[in-house]
Amino acid sequence: MTMDELKRQAAAQALEHVRDGMQLGLGTGSTAKHFVELLGERIATTGLKVIGVPTSEATRADAERCGVPLTTLDAIDRLDLTVDGADECDANLNLIKGGGGALLREKIVAAASDRMIVIADDSKWVPVLGRFPLPIEVIPFGLAATRRAIEGVFTTCGLSGAMTVRQGLDGHAFVTDGGHWIIDARLGQIADAPRLAALLGAIPGVVEHGLFIGLASTAMLAGSQGIRVFERP
Ligand code: A5P
Repeated sequence: MTMDELKRQAAAQALEHVRDGMQLGLGTGSTAKHFVELLGERIATTGLKVIGVPTSEATRADAERCGVPLTTLDAIDRLDLTVDGADECDANLNLIKGGGGALLREKIVAAASDRMIVIADDSKWVPVLGRFPLPIEVIPFGLAATRRAIEGVFTTCGLSGAMTVRQGLDGHAFVTDGGHWIIDARLGQIADAPRLAALLGAIPGVVEHGLFIGLASTAMLAGSQGIRVFERP
């Protein structure tokens, strides 16, 4: 089975948890895109009534194309369920996200949800977070000062690694949907992700970071042996 087929399987499993009347957070990335497509098919074939909040402009476009009705977090209070991908997931269901650059809206949506299901192929399952470069969304103003502050936090946490400003296909800095830049930090292993998350979140100039701590409730990981489902301990 190809990686893409595995991703679609995980998405299909998550779809089984969607009920009539639900308000849904719609994730970003190649796996979440499968979920949006399958959700659109279910709406078209069964008349399922749901409404979604997209976590990126790319997902908004996908949802519109697939016939998934959309709303905003200004129009509704809470979401019943968010389904999103991840770049890494550990046994506590702490995540690294933001490989696609949508971490800020993804975290706002996940935090507004009663439940978050992570869907991924099982290559995303890791014993310790950090092999995937940690995305940190920053304000371009004062970038060097923000970098120094981030470095200081890494030192406090016993971490080190190269930091690069993410580039877009045009060779210029990648700009997020919120108009910010992203620093990718190659840390290797993050022994205490909750502590790092708290310290990074306190730096002026850091808008958000890709550590999702205590937000995911369930992970559905598709591999050659089938789908493994993990609940947050
Ligand atoms: C988007 O910003 C990310 O958080 C994605 O959810 C993550 O990169 C997973 O993407 P894939 O499903 O494409 O691997």
